[in-house]
Amino acid sequence: MALLYAVLLAAVLVASAQAQGTLKCQATLKGWAYLPAAAVQGFSGIKTIRDAAGKPTDQFWVITDNGLGSRRTSPDSMLFFHKMKVDWAAHKFTRLDSSFLHDPDRKVPFVLRNEETKNRYLSGADFDIESIQPIGNSVWIGDEFGPYLIEVSTSGRVKGVWDVPNPAGAGLVRSPDNDAIQLPNPDQALPAYNLQRSRGFEGMATYGDFLYPMLEGPLYTTGANGTKSYEARNGLQYLRILKFNMKTKTWVNGTINYGLEINGNSIGDFNMINERHALILERDNNEGDADMACTPGFVNATCWEAPARFKRAYLVDLGDVDAAGFAKKVAYIDLLDIKDPAGVSPASRNGVFKFPFQTIEDIDVYDAASQTIVVGNDNNFPYSMGRALGKADNNEVISLQVPGFFTGGQGCAPA
Ligand SMILES: *[C@@H]1O[C@H](CO)[C@@H](O)[C@H](O)[C@H]1NC(C)=O
Ligand SMILES: *[C@@H]1O[C@H](CO)[C@@H](O)[C@H](O)[C@H]1NC(C)=O
Ligand SMILES: *[C@@H]1O[C@H](CO)[C@@H](O)[C@H](O)[C@H]1NC(C)=O
Repeated sequence: MALLYAVLLAAVLVASAQAQGTLKCQATLKGWAYLPAAAVQGFSGIKTIRDAAGKPTDQFWVITDNGLGSRRTSPDSMLFFHKMKVDWAAHKFTRLDSSFLHDPDRKVPFVLRNEETKNRYLSGADFDIESIQPIGNSVWIGDEFGPYLIEVSTSGRVKGVWDVPNPAGAGLVRSPDNDAIQLPNPDQALPAYNLQRSRGFEGMATYGDFLYPMLEGPLYTTGANGTKSYEARNGLQYLRILKFNMKTKTWVNGTINYGLEINGNSIGDFNMINERHALILERDNNEGDADMACTPGFVNATCWEAPARFKRAYLVDLGDVDAAGFAKKVAYIDLLDIKDPAGVSPASRNGVFKFPFQTIEDIDVYDAASQTIVVGNDNNFPYSMGRALGKADNNEVISLQVPGFFTGGQGCAPA
């Protein structure tokens, strides 16, 4: 890892000082591959597998989330992560291997769906796993139910589970799906929880000895006037990036804030480019091609009622944080406006490729030398239909050349 980042750093830290405000960079499609829609759910986090010299191989780690969305609908959906292989020439993304999460050592601090079984396989009723960082002999996983941070072996055996300290006050970060949240009798006060359901660790980056788990939704806190609200600045909600020391296995005080562009947007995934620049996906909850939007009031099966409008990858400078703790959003690419002059994907039209999926949940550096990143969707099989009307989405993975992301925004234009 150290070597990889040394190599990247040389190529990168050119001129972020030059960036004023948020810049818009252009991405060009270099590779397109897919895994056909199938009863293996889509991918919620990705990590490029590199060789000893830091060069990308054709393999990736990806993680599948809890299955069918909620604790109640997913008890028979096992939790796992996979090793995948891409063949850009054949446009194929194939599964090589899967590791199922299991807890025979009883590390999980609550009763599992499969509590009394020998291997205690984890299910989608226990956790919703959304982010992945394989490091050494461990795979670190961010959960969005509790939320929790989970450490497992490369074969998926749980080594540890961590609660999340509340960075905005006393106690812990808890969503209504945290196992410790129990409804009291009707005459009692409700227990304290401060995060919307399914808004836990959607993204988690790493650098050096640290993990940076990032909440998908804003914390719900009590303001100075005693009123409760979702954390916002100037009316715009923001998300907390926490910090965890993998050596000491303890949380580090202090967070970095990520300001959303539009309230209600979600982040999809989060990885570092170098020691201070990060890739963060920010998206709306819509799907489909806006060129085929329904006329308001005339909705039918030939058009998209609420097509994708906001699907971006941001370059964020975690080393440039203002007095209120907000990281600088240096630049972005529009995933609905990708150049495809070579006709890499059959889905492109008039030289433009769109990635109009509801949940775009995978982003990582692919190859710093060729200034490429990799991006993928979670197809929420069989629900999401963003590529073709009435057809369950495949899992698509694309490689994008984005020179501006590797030069701190150089060559990009003010948005
Ligand atoms: C209290 O402050 C919040 C912002 O922190 C604001 O949204 C809300 O309107 C305020 N409520 C009152 C009653 O002043
Ligand atoms: C974080 O802050 C709390 C409360 O201020 C303190 O008790 C704790 O020791 C701090 N932890 C670290 C790692 O600094
Ligand atoms: C379907 O909706 C589109 C756009 O709203 C409209 O142009 C088209 O005429 C409609 N088709 C039918 C068969 O109603």
